[in-house]
Amino acid sequence: MRRTSLLLVFGFILTFTQAQVDTGAEEETGGEDDHVELFTTPTTKMGAATSDFGYNLFRALASREAATNVFLAPLSVSAALTQLSMGGSEQAERQLHRALRYHTLQDPQLHRTLKDLLASVKTAGKGLSLAARLCLTRRIRLKQEFFDLVEQQYGVRPKTLQGGAKDMKEVNDWVSQETSNNVQRFLAKPLPRNSFIHTVSAAHFTGKWTTRFGTDDQMMNFQLDGGTPVRVPMMQQVNYPMKLGVDSDLGCTIAQISMQDDVSMFVFLPNDVTSNLTLMEDSLTAEFVQDLSMTLLPAQVTLTLPKMKFSYSTDLQPLLGDLGLTDWLENPDLEKISSQVTKLSTVNHKVVMETVPEGNQYPSPSSTPGHLTYRVDRPFIYLIRDDPSGALLFIGRVVNPKDLRM
Ligand SMILES: *[C@@H]1O[C@H](CO)[C@@H](O)[C@H](O)[C@H]1NC(C)=O
Repeated sequence: MRRTSLLLVFGFILTFTQAQVDTGAEEETGGEDDHVELFTTPTTKMGAATSDFGYNLFRALASREAATNVFLAPLSVSAALTQLSMGGSEQAERQLHRALRYHTLQDPQLHRTLKDLLASVKTAGKGLSLAARLCLTRRIRLKQEFFDLVEQQYGVRPKTLQGGAKDMKEVNDWVSQETSNNVQRFLAKPLPRNSFIHTVSAAHFTGKWTTRFGTDDQMMNFQLDGGTPVRVPMMQQVNYPMKLGVDSDLGCTIAQISMQDDVSMFVFLPNDVTSNLTLMEDSLTAEFVQDLSMTLLPAQVTLTLPKMKFSYSTDLQPLLGDLGLTDWLENPDLEKISSQVTKLSTVNHKVVMETVPEGNQYPSPSSTPGHLTYRVDRPFIYLIRDDPSGALLFIGRVVNPKDLRM
């Protein structure tokens, strides 16, 4: 496990405090035997497994799409691929479960645990909607028992594709409906003709802060790696209560900003202006982020954040090979779906996110702003996490907010 040593730096290091919670100290002195289990309940273990899958997928995407904005809502991808895993032979299921990190769970009630987790993160106050479904071509003989099995377990019946233009409209209408019309035009073009199985995964997230921002929509500079700064709308607030820490190994300052209904945003802001955030990307694990949530220190900060509203879509299928699924992609052995040879053709994924300045609390009134500032005005990584389960809801790398589009 990666050691975190975080310093909270006030202005010109007027004061600094070594953030070292009890669990951290124990690990430092003890050996492997003293390893503290961070995830102890089925739900937090599932939260960690889906997060670790999400970080792996994010790394694969981030390295394929170097130096660009990239986003994922990994839990929706986990949900869609888990439905697919139910159609595999025992060995195929095991392969897919390994990539999904379920081998760490030893949970006989895996599907129920995931279903409960999905239900809990979709409660209205968290601002997240998710959609996950399988679409299967009728060019192969499909086993109806599989449709029943998935519907019984996840309450969503796989869709049979007819192979015409209507398929695209129906898929898009379904995604739109599941996300309260927030994710539109899920498929931008018809599904390829000679294809078999498609997973649909989509998410919409509206940031609902605990503490509101007083200033919104002020145009400010955002630095680009090797380019002239761009002017983008920013939200700003003095004396903003949040948690903060400096990670000198990663060369970044990490913030945890509280959102409503036990959701947090974590921001990883590098010290220098660079679009190469590999070091930070590589450090992300469920354990590391859980550790952060315990070691970052509370502070009152002048916070400046870009106001974001965007959609992002991509086909993740080519990335699955990077997650150890090369053999599985060749021969997914989906015997419970069809006795004919079939393959996973696309893993289309679309996310929409918006941040608004509103919150349900005001920052403490004070005429003198503190010394600390946290100005997110250069390429950064952020993630949205459900705190009780630890599940990663959303993750993104923002290199140029000017390129973000709805
Ligand atoms: C990005 O940074 C990492 C480590 O900081 C380095 O190994 C890698 O070569 C860099 N990549 C590029 C494209 O500069």
